[in-house]
Amino acid sequence: MLSAECYYFPVPTKKRIAVVPGDGIGKEVVPNALEVVRASGAAVEFTTFDWGADRYLADGTTVPADGFPMLARDFDAIFVGALGDPRVPSNIHAKEILLGMRFKMDLYANVRPVRLLDASLCPLKNASPDDINFTVVRENTEGVYMDMGGNFKFGTPDEVATQEDINTRKGVERIIRFAFEYARANGREKVMMSGKSNVMTYAGGLWQRVFKEVAKEFSEIQTQHMYVDALCLQMVREPRSLDVIVTNNMFGDIITDLAAALQGGLGMAASGNIHPGRTSMFEPVHGSAPLIAGKNIANPMGSILTAAMMLAHLGLKAEAQKIESAVLDAVRELKMTVDVGGSLGTRECAQWIAERVAK
Ligand SMILES: NC(=O)c1ccc[n+]([C@@H]2O[C@H](COP(=O)([O-])OP(=O)(O)OC[C@H]3O[C@@H](n4cnc5c(N)ncnc54)[C@H](O)[C@@H]3O)[C@@H](O)[C@H]2O)c1
Repeated sequence: MLSAECYYFPVPTKKRIAVVPGDGIGKEVVPNALEVVRASGAAVEFTTFDWGADRYLADGTTVPADGFPMLARDFDAIFVGALGDPRVPSNIHAKEILLGMRFKMDLYANVRPVRLLDASLCPLKNASPDDINFTVVRENTEGVYMDMGGNFKFGTPDEVATQEDINTRKGVERIIRFAFEYARANGREKVMMSGKSNVMTYAGGLWQRVFKEVAKEFSEIQTQHMYVDALCLQMVREPRSLDVIVTNNMFGDIITDLAAALQGGLGMAASGNIHPGRTSMFEPVHGSAPLIAGKNIANPMGSILTAAMMLAHLGLKAEAQKIESAVLDAVRELKMTVDVGGSLGTRECAQWIAERVAK
């Protein structure tokens, strides 16, 4: 008979995080965000990967063979900076790394919390933090991002171009259910579905039918529908009315930049690319900002808040909370970078936050 010890497999005590700083300011904000996480005492360990433009230009690798299965197998989460470099005009490496993670790892829910930390950050007149506190849940694996379509009579005056918008019943249902479950888990009261079903009648009709069906399972959550153009108006005129918004891949892409502006700009916005129960990926919303890269002026708060979001997702809620409140303190005490009205550099801002977290 086997002794009890034979059944013992050591369970990793630390959460394993794969880190891809990427390009441009990603390489500056990510190490700074990691310092803040270390200061929180979170039980995590980082493994950094050099995937990005430099590696691609050096040896042609975008994602090594076995890259995505390895991430799914060996890590609890992935933390990405930004990808995009003017030396790679095709952007092929960014596409293969970022869209590869989203599609091949099936990270179907893009979650973007939109929270105003301080009135001074908002371009809207008289808006307070109570007015801007909602979450966008964007479908992340379908829609017009599937690269389906084609050109006929390419380059001639008679050219025709088509771009397919893919909406599967399974894909629509799981993102809508995710939004309701997110609302339930986070004490949110309303889920609004937004789209353009008045003109995109086939895809929009599917979303409408599925939304009504899934909503029946969540009777305590109020439901709303708003066309996406009306929603843009609402986001500016009455953001307080918004709670959880679920929408397709392209509309989600567009409205979340508007949402980022409401919370102080791209440098403040966090996001997660999630498949519940699987290795998920977290990244600040901004890109690689090549024009400001290497100057120690990029705002690290978006990636610090993204790191907090990742810790909360991994169950390290106290550490996540500590980091979020230190960022809030930094905003209130003007310990910020110039894009949001401060005077600190990237390193100094992150260092201030790390020290506050460690206290
Ligand atoms: N998820 C991603 O990795 C991602 C997202 C968007 C764009 N990109 C790529 O990034 C590159 C640049 O794209 P872009 O200019 O359209 O978008 P961007 O987000 O890099 O920059 C847009 C503007 O916001 C500013 N900005 C962005 N992040 C900032 C920060 N943390 N602090 C201060 N200012 C900040 C930039 O200086 C620029 O003026 C392109 O190659 C693009 O493909 C990558």
